[in-house]
Amino acid sequence: MQKAWYYEEYGPKEVLKLGDIPLPTPQHDQLLVQVRAAALNPIDSKRRQRPLFPSDFPAVPGCDMAGIVVAKGTSVTKFNTGDEVYGNIQDFNAEGKLKQLGALAEFIVVEESLIAKKPKNISFEEAASLPLAVQTAIEGFKTAGFKTGQTIFIVGGAGGVGTLVIQLAKHFYGASHVVATTSTPKVEFVKELGADKVIDYRKTKYKDIEEKFDVLYDTIGDCKNSFVVAKDNAPIVDITWPPSHPRAIYSSLTVSGEILEKLRPFIESGKLKAQIDPTGPYKFKDVIEAFRYLETGRARGKVVISAFPYTESTRCHFIREQEESCS
Ligand SMILES: NC(=O)c1ccc[n+]([C@@H]2O[C@H](COP(=O)([O-])OP(=O)(O)OC[C@H]3O[C@@H](n4cnc5c(N)ncnc54)[C@H](OP(=O)(O)O)[C@@H]3O)[C@@H](O)[C@H]2O)c1
Repeated sequence: MQKAWYYEEYGPKEVLKLGDIPLPTPQHDQLLVQVRAAALNPIDSKRRQRPLFPSDFPAVPGCDMAGIVVAKGTSVTKFNTGDEVYGNIQDFNAEGKLKQLGALAEFIVVEESLIAKKPKNISFEEAASLPLAVQTAIEGFKTAGFKTGQTIFIVGGAGGVGTLVIQLAKHFYGASHVVATTSTPKVEFVKELGADKVIDYRKTKYKDIEEKFDVLYDTIGDCKNSFVVAKDNAPIVDITWPPSHPRAIYSSLTVSGEILEKLRPFIESGKLKAQIDPTGPYKFKDVIEAFRYLETGRARGKVVISAFPYTESTRCHFIREQEESCS
């Protein structure tokens, strides 16, 4: 058995329980990973609150993780035991239910196609913060058909996705002018991410912004108001469902390890930096508090969980399998 957070009915964060669940066995294309850090996403709360992307009960929440490979299926070719890996383990693009066993457990199984090796220059916590948000951020640029040299207006520059959209616009997609919105306390933070200009939405209304942009990228679902900053016929990307303006195009993430591999040079060169909310990383025992904070909608970057418990019995189980000795 292993420790995990799970829920057996839909509801508020209080339905979450910390307890023992069986250790999973990796299938032929899967790896068994000892989780060292995980990150929360709004989808983890939404799935817990109602039957959205259902899985079987008891359901362990969590998509994003970073950890160490401890066993692998027979057809795995890209990874070996001992590799440090990271990824979003829930394939939202696949048919059928999502995995019952999410990332908030000591050990998880994941298909090798969904993960990548962790860049050596970042911690497990930093790595865990990236996958789902960066996969979403990149898909939005594709949805917009973004071209080098275009200007971009980003609504929600301080959130898990927005912090990455700003950095990608600057360093990956070659935007000529990046403007992002946030509230007063986060203006300096958003500037430091690389935005050329930050709009404090508590002081300035969209309709008072004179410049019009080649692309509007709305991460908070405010298109019904924000559309006024887009040029006529400019793509308006909304990552929330349903989009709140007839011109807005809904953009949904593609889950794959390949995307993370493509970003490796930008992560290793420090151009793309993980943004961990300063209230964290939270300890494994404090997952409910971490969800409470995420659900305020005020997170700055990503809400990260670290320090997984690793009971002696589970640790020994895998050490025994690998080294055939365990004291
Ligand atoms: N389609 C997809 O594939 C996909 C993937 C990931 C996420 N999503 C969805 O996208 C949304 C954002 O996800 P996330 O992970 O970035 O959420 P998040 O990290 O929880 O976003 C929190 C941020 O939103 C900002 N915010 C709230 N109201 C704002 C406003 N009126 N103007 C500007 N910023 C505002 C907050 O900044 P302030 O405190 O400064 O207001 C805070 O920094 C969620 O609804 C999520 O479910 C969709």
